[in-house]
Formats: sequence, C-alpha cells, structure tokens
Amino acid sequence: MTDNNSFNLRELAVDLGTANTRVMYHDEIVLEESSAIMIDSESGRLLLLGNEAAGCPDDGMGKNHVVWPLANGVISDFQAFRQMVEDFLRIVNGRSPIPLKVAAVVPTGLTEVEVRFVCDVLKKSGAVDVRLIYRPFAAAIGIGLDVMGPEAKMIVDIGGGTSEISVISSGSIVQMAAIKTAGDEFTRDIVDYIQQIPDMENSSRMAEQVKIHVGAAMRDVPDAPAPFELSNYNLENPKTIRVTHDEVADVLDNSIGRIETAVMNVLNSTTPKVLEDISRLGIHLVGGGALLRGLDRRLHLKTGFPVHVAEDPLRAVVRGTSVALRNFDRFPFLVS
Ligand SMILES: Nc1ncnc2c1ncn2[C@@H]1O[C@H](COP(=O)(O)OP(=O)(O)OP(=O)(O)O)[C@@H](O)[C@H]1O
Ligand SMILES: [Mg+2]
Repeated sequence: MTDNNSFNLRELAVDLGTANTRVMYHDEIVLEESSAIMIDSESGRLLLLGNEAAGCPDDGMGKNHVVWPLANGVISDFQAFRQMVEDFLRIVNGRSPIPLKVAAVVPTGLTEVEVRFVCDVLKKSGAVDVRLIYRPFAAAIGIGLDVMGPEAKMIVDIGGGTSEISVISSGSIVQMAAIKTAGDEFTRDIVDYIQQIPDMENSSRMAEQVKIHVGAAMRDVPDAPAPFELSNYNLENPKTIRVTHDEVADVLDNSIGRIETAVMNVLNSTTPKVLEDISRLGIHLVGGGALLRGLDRRLHLKTGFPVHVAEDPLRAVVRGTSVALRNFDRFPFLVS
C-alpha cells in the first residue's frame, strides 16, 4: 500500500492496553473503554463490552464471565480478544464502507505469534493496512519528545498490567525493562488491606476508588486529599471507615519500591552519556500509574533526576500513535 492510497483509507490509532483500549481518529479520541468483555460461558455469546463489562461483577463459576483478554500483558484469551477488538472497531467505524489503515500499540512482551494474531484480527476487522509500533516510541511522541534526536530520553509507562522503563535515542530503544507491578497490582495491594478490616466488604472496584481518590506513593505530598469514606452495604451491620492517603502510601510502598528498583537497574546499566542526558532532560512518566500522588517526587528523591508527569498520561500513547500514523516515513521503528 503506498502512501498515496492512504487518502482513501480511514486512519485509526489504537492503543490496546491491558486495562484500557483507546482509539483516535485524526486528533480526536473516538473510543476509550476498559479492555474487557462479558461473555455467556455456555453459548460464548458476547453480553457486554468495555466499561459496561468491567463494571459488572464476574459471577465466578457461573454463566456470566468477565474476561480481560490482555491480562498480565499477554493475550490470555484469543477468542475473547478477537471479539473485543472486532466490536470496538465496529463501534468506531459504524457502517462506513471506507477501509481502515490502523496503527496499533500492543503490550511490549507479546510473542511473535501473538503479534501476528493481533494483525490478523485487525485485518479481519476491516483494516487493509496494519502497522504495529513500539509502545515507548508512541509514548515519547505523544508527549512531544524528539524521538529521532541523539539525546537519550527515559520513559516510564505505568499502565494496568505492566510498568515499562525505556531509554530511547536516535530512533531506537537503547535500554528497556518491564515488570508486572503496575496499576492492577496497586489495586490488589489495597484489596488486601481492606480485607483485613473487620466487617468491610471487599471488591476491586472499591479498591480502585480508594486508589483514585487517596492513592499516593508517599506520605508527604503537596496536594494531600481529604480521607475517602468507604461504606459496606450490609444493612444489619453497617460500617463506614475513612481511608487516608498516608495509609495508602504505606500499603503501596513495596510495589512502588519494585518500580523504583527497576528504574535504578536501568539507570545503573546505562552509559555516563545517557545518564548525563537523562539528568538534563529528566524522566517522563506516562500511563495511569503516573497519576498516583507523589510518585514523581518519590522517583526524583530516589534517582536525583528531574521527573515529569505527562500532561495527559493515560492518553499519551494513543496520541503518539496517531502522530506516528500520519508520519510513518519519518519514523522507522515499526514492530511490523
Ligand atoms: N488517578 C489515578 N491514580 C492512580 N491510578 C490511576 C488513576 N487513574 C487511572 N489509574 C490506573 O491506571 C491504570 C490504567 O492505566 P493505562 O490506561 O495507562 O493502562 P493500560 O495502557 O491499559 O495498561 P498497559 O499499558 O499496562 O497495557 C489502571 O490500573 C488504573 O486504575
Ligand atoms: Mg498502556
């Protein structure tokens, strides 16, 4: 497919994240949904999609099963993944007969077989031209960094399933590490904490609320939020507790420590020139985890380098994918 033919194609940028799928058309977000579906486990029929599916309790062994097809940064359920992506693209594309050109970002750890499967699914969903791009490049472009320039830049992307620490320079990845400690793990830490409080019901949705309202990476934060009230809905034994950001900072301490260690390991294995660049240009935080209060300060205290939180960290990757999609000739770093 030549670039001239691209005029006849509808160009979509797609970030297939473990927690969220985002799609941009031109400069607009046209879909932002949880990467989840609910299926009837007997018939395999899709019952709910995206945020609606994520908001429903999974009835465990029962009929209605909520699937996160990219859980843990791998395709955990191929059939569910196909169904989810096809339906998302159908929503975005409506009845438009115009074929798609898609640039997609997938979790970095996917195997070659998984990558081929993603391309295949996108093609079957109407894309005649599919490009996959490396996530750290998309993030870097999304926050306006000069990815082709020789200075080294460090991107730390803390998503739902993975935290990726990458150093890029002159259009290539010079250092990279990924760990499975990220937003989902923070939520699990909070679930475990609430579970220890007598008479409190526990759910990951509740823990997610705690994380968003009073989540913190350290006690000493400039914008300390008011405590968050949590109530159980047991009419016979009602109970309300107040959770403070100090408590959450303690609860998340070990998980944040693992991210700190991973960042330090990457820094310790780079060259003095790279360190010099990063000390000047700073460490850039993207992904939902970047919104955790005090994370920038904690990483700054640990590394001694400036740390910048992206302006819109949840959307940096899809924005960058969208820019890359329109400038493929300038960016030689496609996965396939
Ligand atoms: N204000 C907030 N404070 C802390 N965490 C948040 C906040 N908002 C969202 N998150 C968390 O960010 C995570 C989702 O981030 P993001 O959308 O970047 O992940 P993703 O791209 O789907 O995942 P991945 O990049 O790992 O594949 C979730 O765990 C969510 O709970
Ligand atoms: Mg992501």
